[in-house]
Amino acid sequence: MIPHVLSGLSFIERFYSYPTLPSTNETAKAFRHRPAKGFYCIQADRQTAGRGRRGASFFSDTPGGLWVSLVTALTDTADHFSYNRAVSLAITLTIAQCGTDLPIAIKWPNDIYWGKKKICGILLENHPLFEDLLIIGFGINVNIRQDEFPPQLRSLATSILIETGRKCSLGALLRTVLKQYMVVLAADKQKVHALYSNRLYGRGTKITINGMTGTFSSVEPDGQLKLVTGGTTVLVNSGSPVFL
Ligand code: BTN
Repeated sequence: MIPHVLSGLSFIERFYSYPTLPSTNETAKAFRHRPAKGFYCIQADRQTAGRGRRGASFFSDTPGGLWVSLVTALTDTADHFSYNRAVSLAITLTIAQCGTDLPIAIKWPNDIYWGKKKICGILLENHPLFEDLLIIGFGINVNIRQDEFPPQLRSLATSILIETGRKCSLGALLRTVLKQYMVVLAADKQKVHALYSNRLYGRGTKITINGMTGTFSSVEPDGQLKLVTGGTTVLVNSGSPVFL
């Protein structure tokens, strides 16, 4: 449980902190009430059934990570991507403050990488009851040792502890992410998109996505990935790029 870390942040309407949950996103989806003006923040020290994109499981049955879901109103329904962009950028900028020579990059559409390894996954979902509520779940590997990851993840995933050799306060990290998120959300969208674009993993390189191979040219302001393949430009809505 993380006590009192969000005090004074007026945009947090309620903060729920649990020792264990199956999944903070599932808890958020089960709410039958909604935030009136700010957003709800739900955190668990460990998740026994953490979920990733496309029905995958997400390793989070350990207290070394920041496993969090936000419940927030979708005020800008025409610009769904701005929430993805804001949370991706907020987490990237926060992790970059830990100090590193390696790039902290956004791997479209929803992952954050430290160098060539994943350090954070993001899962955005609609609320089943309130169609204008968005659930933003994110999991950041913070104080997890390499031997604590399941063997199959050890070459793919990393944590702040592994990269810096230092433990980091989960509460302080959460506070910084949420403050950054609010700053980014309120900032000029063109400037935010330029910052986002500069942080993209593998832009300009060859990828395969949804059976197509080409050059990952950019991410458009509406969130679509622009792929240039054989002189043709294709806009991709969703998928998982494989970097060649
Ligand atoms: C992914 O990597 O595919 C997305 C992972 C999202 C994980 C976070 S942890 C908090 C929230 N609760 C979940 O069950 N999933 C998200």
